[in-house]
Amino acid sequence: MRIKDKVVIVTGGGRGIGEAICTKLASEGAKVVVTDISLETAKVTAEKIISSGGEAIAIKTDVTQLSDVTSMVKQAKEKYEKIDVLVNNAGWDKIEPFLQNGEETWDKVIAINLRGVFNTCYSVLPIMIEQGFGKVINIGSDAGRVGSTGEAVYSAAKGGVIAFSKTIAREMARHKINVNVVCPGPVNTPLFQEIVKDNPKISTALEKAIPFRRLAEPEDIANAVCYFSSDEASFVTGQTLSVSGGLTMA
Ligand SMILES: NC(=O)c1ccc[n+]([C@@H]2O[C@H](COP(=O)([O-])OP(=O)(O)OC[C@H]3O[C@@H](n4cnc5c(N)ncnc54)[C@H](O)[C@@H]3O)[C@@H](O)[C@H]2O)c1
Repeated sequence: MRIKDKVVIVTGGGRGIGEAICTKLASEGAKVVVTDISLETAKVTAEKIISSGGEAIAIKTDVTQLSDVTSMVKQAKEKYEKIDVLVNNAGWDKIEPFLQNGEETWDKVIAINLRGVFNTCYSVLPIMIEQGFGKVINIGSDAGRVGSTGEAVYSAAKGGVIAFSKTIAREMARHKINVNVVCPGPVNTPLFQEIVKDNPKISTALEKAIPFRRLAEPEDIANAVCYFSSDEASFVTGQTLSVSGGLTMA
């Protein structure tokens, strides 16, 4: 087991990539704090882990609210006494041309995808500094590396996550805290299905464009997160890894 007894917080762990990260890390021995804005789905993920013999708790958390995040981190620390790994996975997007976006969309996209990462890092890093160890893995997107039509503000937010992660990696290295980013390409998740439901041709076109000729499955992303969570990645920090079947080679 590659991360036995490590305590891991995952945001947006109720479905899609977040759920796959929770179950993968649990299968490698982690104690998982499954957090999501939907307590119902977070509980389903936690129960799935427990019924397979793993350890998990579910906590409702809206990453856009610092007070919510602080309270979740306090509960996690009280329960498990340490936090080894933070995975910032919660995200949201709406595909439309920038000139059709409203301010409401900008604010929501930035609040969840970028500000959410600030909130969790602000709450967890002091604990990791005190421990003298920790790993942060932020889920970015290839949209934040190479751009993506219809995702201007999302690309900006994810680009912000990448830049923020590099700076935090520099600031935290003296405390033996690693900070890295995993950038998925298109992944077959509920969010992706919602985005393409009105235009299924997008999915086929993407499959043709991806050198490996398929969308990523959530488990492909979870495997990369597992590596960054493990001691095998202890000398790797400030890095951005695309998991996209070769669609982007930035
Ligand atoms: N699916 C893709 O093709 C793709 C591609 C690149 C990057 N990503 C990124 O991967 C991550 C996961 O995406 P997904 O496709 O699994 O999405 P998803 O919508 O299937 O799952 C996202 C989860 O985050 C939760 N969430 C949403 N807002 C939240 C909030 N304010 N606080 C806490 N939790 C919240 C949702 O309830 C949901 O459980 C996101 O950061 C997304 O931007 C996805």
